[in-house]
Amino acid sequence: MKLLIIISLGFFTFASRYPGVRTSISLSPLTEIIKQILPAAIEKAEKTTLPSTTIYVHPLFIPIRLDLSDISIESLSMDINNVQITINNKSNELILTLPKVNLFLTARYDYYIPFRVEGILNLTLTNATANMPMKLSVHNNGHLELDIEKMNGDFSSLSIDVDPQGPISTIFVLITKLWPLSQIANHFFSGVFESLSVHLNPFVEKYLKSYQYTSQVGNLAISADYHFYSTQVTLTSILSSVNGSFFLNHALDKISPVVPPNYLPDFYQHAPVIVQITEYFFDSLMWALYASNTLHVYIKSEDVPSTFPYTFTTTGLNKVAPNFSAVYGNNVPVDMECMAYKVPNIDIQSQISLVAGINCNFLVRISPNLYKTAFTLIMDFNTKVQGSVISKDEQVYIIASFDRANTLFNDFSIINSQIGEFSPSKLITAFNWYVYYLVNNINNILEDEGFLVPLPRGMTFKNPVFHIYQGAVELDFEPVFA
Ligand SMILES: *[C@@H]1O[C@H](CO)[C@@H](O)[C@H](O)[C@H]1NC(C)=O
Ligand SMILES: *[C@@H]1O[C@H](CO)[C@@H](O)[C@H](O)[C@H]1NC(C)=O
Ligand SMILES: *[C@@H]1O[C@H](CO)[C@@H](O)[C@H](O)[C@H]1NC(C)=O
Ligand SMILES: *[C@@H]1O[C@H](CO)[C@@H](O)[C@H](O)[C@H]1NC(C)=O
Ligand SMILES: *[C@@H]1O[C@H](CO)[C@@H](O)[C@H](O)[C@H]1NC(C)=O
Repeated sequence: MKLLIIISLGFFTFASRYPGVRTSISLSPLTEIIKQILPAAIEKAEKTTLPSTTIYVHPLFIPIRLDLSDISIESLSMDINNVQITINNKSNELILTLPKVNLFLTARYDYYIPFRVEGILNLTLTNATANMPMKLSVHNNGHLELDIEKMNGDFSSLSIDVDPQGPISTIFVLITKLWPLSQIANHFFSGVFESLSVHLNPFVEKYLKSYQYTSQVGNLAISADYHFYSTQVTLTSILSSVNGSFFLNHALDKISPVVPPNYLPDFYQHAPVIVQITEYFFDSLMWALYASNTLHVYIKSEDVPSTFPYTFTTTGLNKVAPNFSAVYGNNVPVDMECMAYKVPNIDIQSQISLVAGINCNFLVRISPNLYKTAFTLIMDFNTKVQGSVISKDEQVYIIASFDRANTLFNDFSIINSQIGEFSPSKLITAFNWYVYYLVNNINNILEDEGFLVPLPRGMTFKNPVFHIYQGAVELDFEPVFA
C-alpha cells in the first residue's frame, strides 16, 4: 500500500496536464531484457579497438610522454545472470550494476624519457563490479530520452602487466613509479565502457525510437497523442504519464473541449506492467469520434435485408406509421440516416458505461436526388464497453467493443413528423435492428484495429487482466520481450 501512495503523490503534481494514460513498468522485467541484450553488446565491445592516447607525466620531476596505441579489448565478461537495476530516485537515474566483470586488454606503449622505450602492456581486471547510470527524462517536445552515463565501480582488482621489448625497456619497467597507472587505467576503462554503452545504445534505441508518439485509430480519421508528460523512477518501477488524448487527422487545429476530471485514481494493484487508461482518454475519444463524423451511418432502403419484418418503403413502413403512404404515395423507398447528435458520455465506475443521444432521419426518396424527411426519431443508446488485448507487430493493442447483452435503447420520441402523430412503439423494434447494425459496424471498426497501448515496441504481454474502477480502466500484465 505504501508504494501505491508514493505513486499517486508523485503524479498529482502533474494535475495541470491530466494524463489520458499512465504506465508503470517494473524494474525486474527491464532487468530481464538487459540480460537478454547484454551478450550481443559485450560481443561487439570485445572486437573494438580503442582510440590511441598520449599521457604526459612528471614523476621525479622528469617530463615524460607516454603513447598508448593498438589498444584492444581481448576479452570482456561478466556475470550476466546477476545483473541488477537499482535506482537513484533523486536524480531519476537507473543504475545498471554489472557484477564480476573480467576484462583483459592489451596495448602497445612507447615511453619517451626522453629516449624511447617500448613494449606491450596488459591490463587485467578480475571480478570487479561496475555501475552504469542511465538517466531517464522527457524532452520538452514530449519525447522520452535515456542517456547512458559514465561508468563507475570498484576496480581495485586492476593489474597492469608490462612486457618490455629490449634491455633498456626491461630496466625501465622496474622503476614502477614511472607508470601513471591510474591514468592508464582511466583511459582504458572509459574506452571499454563507452564501447559497451555505445553497443547497448542501438538496443535501447530499438525500444525507445520505435515508440509511437501518435497512433491512428484503425482507418478512422482520428489519432491518439501519446507524447510523454513526465517519467519518474520509483523504488520498483518506471512511471510514465502520457497525453492520451485524441485529435482529428484532418483538422489539427480543432481543440478538444473535453475537460479532465478533478481527480486522478490510484493504480489498482502492483503488476509488472500497469497501463491505466483514464476517463479523460475515453471522453477525448468520444469527442474525436463525434467531431470526425464517425458516429454517423446511412442505410439505403435496398440494403435492408428481406428477412426484416418491414420493407423500408412507404408501404412497408405504413404498418408502423399509418399515414406514410397516404402522404408520399405507395412503394417509395425510405432510407435512414442515424448519428449521435452530441458527444457521447462515458462514465467509469465498476463498468464502462456509454450513453449516446442518437437521432435518425427517415428519408423518403421521392426521386434519385430528392429526399424528404418524413420524421426524426430520437433516443438514447446505452451500452457497456468491454476490452480485450491483442499483440500485433510486437505491440500491444486494446480492442474495445460494445457489450451487446448490455445494450439498451430508451427514451424514444418522434419529432418533426410530416405524417402526423403516431406511437413509436412498433418502430422501436425496427429501430433496434438498425442500431444493432450500427453497433456492429462500430464494433467491427474497433475490433479490426484496436487502440495502441503506449509502450515501447518489442514488449508484448502474458496473463493480461483488466480492472475497472472509478475514473479508469487498468490493464495489468507480465511483459514478454521480442
Ligand atoms: C527515494 O526513496 C527513498 C526510499 O529509499 C524515500 O525515502 C525518498 O523519499 C525517495 N525520494 C524521492 C524524491 O522520491
Ligand atoms: C568476487 O567478488 C565477490 C565480492 O567482492 C566475492 O564474494 C567473490 O568471492 C569473488 N569471486 C571470485 C571468483 O574472486
Ligand atoms: C600479455 O598478454 C599476452 C597474451 O595476450 C601474453 O602473451 C603476455 O605474456 C602477457 N604479458 C604480460 C607481461 O603479462
Ligand atoms: C495532448 O495532445 C493533444 C492532441 O494532439 C494536443 O492538442 C494537446 O496540446 C496535448 N496536450 C499537452 C498538454 O501537450
Ligand atoms: C392520417 O390520415 C387520416 C386519413 O387519411 C387523417 O384523418 C388523419 O388526420 C391523419 N393523421 C394525422 C396525424 O395526420
